[in-house]
Amino acid sequence: MKALELATPLNQLTARDAVLRLRASRIREVANASLGRKDVLAFWFGEPDELTPEFIRREGIKALEAGETFYTHNFGIAELREALATYVSRLHQPVSSSNIVVTSSGMSALMLATQALAGPGDRVVEVTPLWPNLVEIPKVLGAQVECVALEFSPQGWSLNLDRLLAALRPGTRALYINSPNNPTGWTITREAQAAILAHCRRHGIWIVADDAYDRMWFGEGDAAPSFLDMAETGDRLVSTNTFSKSWLMTGWRIGWLVAPPELAVQIGKLIEYNTSCVPVFVQRAGLVAVTEGEPMIRRTVKRYRRARDFLIPRLNAIPGVQAATPPGAMYAFFRVQGMTDSLAFCKRLVVEASLGLAPGIAFGPEGEGFVRWCFASSEERLAEGIERLKKAIASA
Ligand SMILES: Cc1ncc(COP(=O)(O)O)c(C=O)c1O
Repeated sequence: MKALELATPLNQLTARDAVLRLRASRIREVANASLGRKDVLAFWFGEPDELTPEFIRREGIKALEAGETFYTHNFGIAELREALATYVSRLHQPVSSSNIVVTSSGMSALMLATQALAGPGDRVVEVTPLWPNLVEIPKVLGAQVECVALEFSPQGWSLNLDRLLAALRPGTRALYINSPNNPTGWTITREAQAAILAHCRRHGIWIVADDAYDRMWFGEGDAAPSFLDMAETGDRLVSTNTFSKSWLMTGWRIGWLVAPPELAVQIGKLIEYNTSCVPVFVQRAGLVAVTEGEPMIRRTVKRYRRARDFLIPRLNAIPGVQAATPPGAMYAFFRVQGMTDSLAFCKRLVVEASLGLAPGIAFGPEGEGFVRWCFASSEERLAEGIERLKKAIASA
C-alpha cells in the first residue's frame, strides 16, 4: 500500500479540475478565526437564533417512535407533496403534486436542478452579489457562470434590466435568480419578472428561481413576487425552496422544488443517485410545518421586520456606514466607506471587537466594500453588536 502511494503522482490524488477551482467559503474563513472563543457575538450565518418550534420537533420525534425509519419514495411522501402543492397553489397559482419534488434541503434542490439542466460548457447567468453556494453549484457540473451585478444606492439595490436581458443571449442555458436576495435583500419587481420570462421564453432559456426567502418579505401580500405567479404550462421554470428559513428548520435538511412534471420525473431519477430520499421522519415534521405553520411564519416575519427597522437606522447613524432598507430576506448588506478588503475587515472585527459579520467579498467581487449582517436576532443582541461595530470603526 505504502509503495503504491509513493508511486502515485500527487495530481492523481486529488479531485477533478472543476472541483479544485471551487472557492472555499470566505464566511467560514472569518468564523474560523473565532474558534474556541465564547465572547464573539456572531451574525455571520444566515440562521435564525430560535429553535425549530415544538409542534414541528414533536412530529419528527413521533414519527421516529412510530418506527418510520425506512427508505421512502424518491419524490417524497405523497401527503407532503400534496400539502406542498396546496401551499404553493394558495400563495401563487395552481400546481399539482406532479410538479412537486421533496429534496434534502434547498441546497440539494438547487444542485439537483442544475444536474438536470447544466453540463460542461453550458453558460448560465446569475444576478449578484449572491449567496456563494449558488454561484459555485453550476461550476461543480462544469458550467460557466456569468454574473450581472445589482447596483447599490442608499435607497436600495436595483437591477439593470437591459444589462440582464443582454447577458441572456440565445444559447444561454439558464438564468439563476434569487429573490428576495441573499445578501442584499433586493427583490425583483413583477414588471422585471414579466420581461425576463418573455425574453427567456423567446430564447428557450431555463429560469431557476431560488425562492428560499419568499416568505421573508416585508411588502404587500403573503409572499414576495415570484415567477410562479405568472408561469404558464410549457414554461422552462424551476422554483427551489427550503424549510430552513420559513419554518426555522436549518438543521433538518429538507426543501422542495416546483418544476414541469416532465423535468420533475428526471429529477426524481437524480435523487436516487444523490440521496435516494429524504428521511420520512423529517418529511413528517415538514408536513406539520406546511399545514400548521402559518401563524409562526407571520410571527417570524413581524419579528424580522422589527429587527430590520431597529438595525438599519442604527447602522446608518455610524459615520461612514451606508445601509439600504432591504424589502425582504433577513440581512443588512451595508457599505463601509474607505473599506476595500472586507475579509481583513471582518477578521479584525472578530479579533478586536468580538463581533462576527460576513465579508461582502464572500458574495462575489461586487460585494467588496460591503459587510453582511443577519438580523434574525433579538434587539438586545443587535444593540450590543452595533456598539461593538461603532467602536471598531471609530478606532480604525
Ligand atoms: C439564497 C439561499 N438559497 C438557498 C438556501 C438553502 O437553504 P438550505 O440548504 O438550508 O435549505 C440558502 C441558505 O442559506 C440561501 O441563503
